[in-house]
Amino acid sequence: MTFARPSSRLLDLLRGDEPVLVLTGAGISAESGLATFRGPGGIWEGHEPGSLATPEAFARDPLTVWRFYAWRRARALAARPNAAHEAIAALERRSGEFLLATQNVDGLHARAGSRRVVELHGTLWRLRCSADGSEREDLREDLGPLPPRCACGALLRPAVVWFGEALPAEAFGSAIRAAERARLVLVIGTSGLVHPAASIPVAASRSGAWVVEINPESTPLSEIADERLAGPAAGVLPAVLEAAFGAQEAHR
Ligand code: OAD
Repeated sequence: MTFARPSSRLLDLLRGDEPVLVLTGAGISAESGLATFRGPGGIWEGHEPGSLATPEAFARDPLTVWRFYAWRRARALAARPNAAHEAIAALERRSGEFLLATQNVDGLHARAGSRRVVELHGTLWRLRCSADGSEREDLREDLGPLPPRCACGALLRPAVVWFGEALPAEAFGSAIRAAERARLVLVIGTSGLVHPAASIPVAASRSGAWVVEINPESTPLSEIADERLAGPAAGVLPAVLEAAFGAQEAHR
């Protein structure tokens, strides 16, 4: 398959050592077999976000909310990082100043080898006590009887960000600071409809970064993108790195 050719500006920025920021959304994990949220076959097509991904839904019906998150944990555990996750990890290894800000909670970026990552919407792999807010890592396939409980007896919740909740301040602050410094921003697999994450590339664009959108569909962020590479991330990203560094070098 062939995709739109990357511009010479993009290739120069990839080869140079200017600060890079990558923003990802559910589309980057689509080729790992994980459904996106919006559009045909998306998670929010069959389910109402208000009954599964809000603090009110959890207070009303923790079992239903937990069945949804236990299903997503099982799907993510069975999935493997794809060529797009791997290309981002390879780009990080050859970059100086670099940050990956992801809206995804599936953990696939870390499994692909990404290290400088902020999880804007939290993670499926940490649980938080609903009484005192303490968190612990939990990678188990089987959480036991749902909803899981803390040793103190209170309900545990997934450490994800629900609609109506604030993003983790440190993660969002790091992403905004990186946006203001970045010369190159790759926006990959996000519909750009959920704020404040969608404001990150806008901040970068205002600060003069070259913004590249990689997505088969156009989005509200296409308007601020300097360049659009239309296609699936697992095809486009490796092709872009190969164009910049050569087929042998690109995946190191
Ligand atoms: P969405 O489901 O809103 O958007 C996914 C985007 O990925 C769309 O623009 C698709 O065109 C694109 N896409 C699909 N397949 C792709 C592929 N193979 N390669 C590249 N792009 C592809 O997902 P997000 O933008 O991540 O939040 O959604 C943002 C937030 O809304 C999520 O973090 C989640 C959701 O509700 C919460 O649950 C709080």
